[in-house]
Amino acid sequence: MTSSLHFFRSSIGKKIIMAITGFIWFGFVIMHMLGNLQIYQGPEKLNAYAKFLKDLGPLLWVARGGLFVAFFGHVAVAILLKRQNASARPVSYSKESTIQASKASTTMFYSGLLLLTFLIYHLLHFTLGVTNPDHSSHEYLLKNGDSVHDVYAMVILGFQQPSIAIAYIVFMFFLALHFSHALGSMLQTIGIAAPKHHPTLQKIATTLAIIVFIGNTSMPLSILLGLVK
Ligand code: HEM
Repeated sequence: MTSSLHFFRSSIGKKIIMAITGFIWFGFVIMHMLGNLQIYQGPEKLNAYAKFLKDLGPLLWVARGGLFVAFFGHVAVAILLKRQNASARPVSYSKESTIQASKASTTMFYSGLLLLTFLIYHLLHFTLGVTNPDHSSHEYLLKNGDSVHDVYAMVILGFQQPSIAIAYIVFMFFLALHFSHALGSMLQTIGIAAPKHHPTLQKIATTLAIIVFIGNTSMPLSILLGLVK
């Protein structure tokens, strides 16, 4: 108990919690993107996939619970780390490299806050149907005769609104920024990387962030341009 408290109170303990909870979300974002990209295969495919997820029942709730805990753990520890860093640094840094590291963690904190805003909006729009109930009120008849929630129509109607599509593209940029910084620092925190490997790992992190950016922005963009209807 005392040792787990000590782990949590230590700066490295907090960074490990940030790394694990962040990694859970990174995994989710990749899976979510791969699932969503089925939009290019038409309404039957995307709606059947959405129904498959819904039919997971209790398993879906376990996954949602895990994501919820990871999310709030990530945000709470980020706030604790920020406070800890601020109080540990009454005078400003003199070394350039440390200033850069502190700039990166400030970027992480604020891009993280923007992502929190995105997530709240995203859930209100697509999951809870609060911001545009007209987008989520459609039903779709699958080939097997099941009538399901028309997720395809919901996404198309959403991204046909220029303000929504553009806002998503901007948020996806901040997501990419957050990921590329986070994955690099996460690998260092958990000690996978010897310093000489850091540039390569940073390149891998940036490439993954760019892939997620392209995959996720392709959807609002192609719908806004009328390529997917
Ligand atoms: C263009 C990009 C995205 C699209 C098209 C998209 C689409 C969707 C849709 C359609 C749903 C509702 C699914 C349903 O009701 O069956 C959903 C739910 C969700 N999305 Fe996204 N999403 C995108 C990006 C993201 C990102 C970047 C995140 C996280 C940072 C995210 C997190 C979530 C979460 C947590 C849910 C709720 C899942 C659940 O209900 O269990 N989404 N998304």
